[in-house]
Amino acid sequence: MSKVQQNFSVVSDDADKPGPSQPASVRSFRSTTKRNASSENAGQDVKPAKYAKMANAAPSKRSNIADVTNTDDSLVWSIEPVCENGIRLDFFAKEPNAASVIMALFEKIYEPVLATLRMKKLDWDNVEDHEIGPFLTIFNTKVRFFRRRNPNKVLLSKENWREEKSTQFRIICDLACRLAIPDQTVLNKHYRSFSNGTYGETDYEQFQSILNQLGVKETDTFIDVGSGIGQLVTFAAAYSKCAYVSGIELEQVPADFATKNGIQFKRLMNHFGEHPRPFKLEKGDFREEKHSEFLKNKAKIIFCNNFAFKPELMLKFREILESCESGTKIVVTKKLETTRSENRVAHDCFFTQMANTSLLQSTGTKTKPNVSWTIKTIDYFLTVMDLEKHFRDAAQRAQREKETRLARQTRTKRDRAAKN
Ligand SMILES: C[S@@+](CC[C@H](N)C(=O)[O-])C[C@H]1O[C@@H](n2cnc3c(N)ncnc32)[C@H](O)[C@@H]1O
Repeated sequence: MSKVQQNFSVVSDDADKPGPSQPASVRSFRSTTKRNASSENAGQDVKPAKYAKMANAAPSKRSNIADVTNTDDSLVWSIEPVCENGIRLDFFAKEPNAASVIMALFEKIYEPVLATLRMKKLDWDNVEDHEIGPFLTIFNTKVRFFRRRNPNKVLLSKENWREEKSTQFRIICDLACRLAIPDQTVLNKHYRSFSNGTYGETDYEQFQSILNQLGVKETDTFIDVGSGIGQLVTFAAAYSKCAYVSGIELEQVPADFATKNGIQFKRLMNHFGEHPRPFKLEKGDFREEKHSEFLKNKAKIIFCNNFAFKPELMLKFREILESCESGTKIVVTKKLETTRSENRVAHDCFFTQMANTSLLQSTGTKTKPNVSWTIKTIDYFLTVMDLEKHFRDAAQRAQREKETRLARQTRTKRDRAAKN
């Protein structure tokens, strides 16, 4: 199997279960541009091989390093802030993937800024890392000049960032992963296929659509159970108006990456003057008391990509969720009512009697899947807890029976009267 095949072996026709996978951040600059097709530039202008090379290259010290405000050579590149309340973004010599992140920022977010500053963009497909320094020197000088001349103007407006596609937040979350995880193939090696710990990602577009369909409120507390490297948690913290966003991950390797991802995410958000919702990424098992109590008593939106959960784990998951209060929204890839196979729904189980389940709208298409582990579209289900449902149903049933009985009695009386 070639290296490329190894990297993308899970995105195959016949793989319908999550397998070891690459986070979106790696894929977006390699060959699976499909998955990023929802991003504005996706699919047309990403040259994977080149970026992969850049991503692995540490910033060259031989290059004409520009805008080094620190004589200590550990600081390599800086980007002046272009948004209101933004802060300067500094990159250091040892940082992995810094060059590719800078290029992605310019290619995907700063384009309108370059136009305002009347700066020619670099040929991102063919740029070498030593060209970045001189480019940034000119860029930063122009930004500072613009700020002095136009103290009341911003170079990059974020007015449309929360609208429709929210491309910028997807890019920021993606780039945070790239800065946090130097070699994402580690995740491939770490995860075992077809186990509870199997990894697979929900596409940002699908996740954003789910948040929209749920109608997230400012009082909602969100949790991603099995949050992997934490990219959905950071996206929810950037995009939604949740009061609190959290993620717990069982496995050490992705949980460690998630912690770093959170730090890089905050750093990038600060650069754009953005304040994410309070969020926390933790290593843990949802079966532990602390987490199960959170699920039972605090979480209002529970997201769990539980497609690969084994029956025993599903059982424990269901047991905990049975204590959630009415109105709690639970999003899953394997139905809570399902017993053995995907399509066998257990009637008269707790979740058919005390909750309502519906299929959420999918963003997956034939050419662009909604998850990372298969090209098939995966269903996401919403279960809304409704603890009165059983009693309401019983009362309605009793009412219907009473009405039928009365109707029957009336008919009998009428028939008798007619006979007499
Ligand atoms: C399919 S991945 C989902 C990643 C992410 N939520 C997404 O949808 O993009 C499922 C994750 O659940 C984690 N997991 C499995 N059992 C768990 C448990 N008992 N507690 C917390 N996380 C668990 C796995 O390690 C894995 O990273």
